[in-house]
Amino acid sequence: MKTIEYKNGCLYLLDQTALPVEKRIITCKTYQDTAKAIKEMQVRGAPAIGVSAAFGLVLAANEYQGSDSNALIERLEIAKETLGNTRPTAVNLFWALQRMAKLWDNAKGLSVLELSTTIEEEAHAIARDDLARNKTIGLLGQQLIPQGARILTHCNAGALATFGYGTALGVIRAAHEQGKEIEVFADETRPLLQGARLTAWELLEDKIPVTLITDSTAGYLMQQQRIDLIIVGADRIAANGDTANKIGTYSLAVLAGHHQIPFYVAAPFSTVDMNISSGKEIIIEEREHDEIRRWGNIQLAPEAVKVYNPAFDVTPNHLITAIITDCGIARPPYLENIVDLASKNDEKGENK
Ligand code: MRU
Repeated sequence: MKTIEYKNGCLYLLDQTALPVEKRIITCKTYQDTAKAIKEMQVRGAPAIGVSAAFGLVLAANEYQGSDSNALIERLEIAKETLGNTRPTAVNLFWALQRMAKLWDNAKGLSVLELSTTIEEEAHAIARDDLARNKTIGLLGQQLIPQGARILTHCNAGALATFGYGTALGVIRAAHEQGKEIEVFADETRPLLQGARLTAWELLEDKIPVTLITDSTAGYLMQQQRIDLIIVGADRIAANGDTANKIGTYSLAVLAGHHQIPFYVAAPFSTVDMNISSGKEIIIEEREHDEIRRWGNIQLAPEAVKVYNPAFDVTPNHLITAIITDCGIARPPYLENIVDLASKNDEKGENK
């Protein structure tokens, strides 16, 4: 089943708020629909957000019926701003919007039809590019996975979080495809349960052995020597390797360090933000308090209780064993080694 599909002028998204109970498809006809779907996390996961936003701009272009390219560009700028104001942490959103905006920055002399066509082609290219990057991450990353490994993962960095295949789950998938007889432990990932609802679902669909645990079971399993390695995705990686990912990732990295368990991050190079020198510059999204106080109609905590609900945390680079990207695997010292990967990424011409 596809996470994201653009056809006949509409963007179809597999509604991730309905999984695993229902496979519901939502239809976005406008860029505003797309922005709403991103904000409400019907589509989520850094690369999937980026791809959806790119198609959101295609919808914005489709809505324009006139013949003035400058008017179309004005509309695209407004759509870009609306889409950019949905979720602040995942850099793939801004990376994709920027990659699209370069088209109209260089559009001098193009007709409305030519610009709209170029925009649609680029959105498809971003989607294809994401899938290809994930497959490469899988192939490279699976080399780090020993036969029979017991792997812990957090949140969902799978096919659902990308255009397909996944990043952290891409590595897991590739290891499984190589016949490595791995076993996965999936943190349920409070408060929105991406691990329980999405990772468990994806792995079961692919018949990859998975055991669901509460977030607080992870440390106990490590203490019992029942975890061989941890692998997670990323929402933004600073130039020095500091990594923002789902809240709770930092705690896992500290525990991994204490128990001398390898801690890997897997992400496409589009998740690396070379404009920031450390994780201190990453904006951490704070979400609605009711995500913790309630589950649907069920009240979990007193209505009046004060809540703090950051969606992400930052794991400092010294706690990360290696960062697996489509441009290669970076190990410490990250500052130098990520620069090397950035030049490989530039050679590919995909980070323009
Ligand atoms: O809030 P979410 O569900 O969008 O958070 C997702 C994550 O933290 C993922 O690990 C990250 O985006 C990487 S997805 C390949």
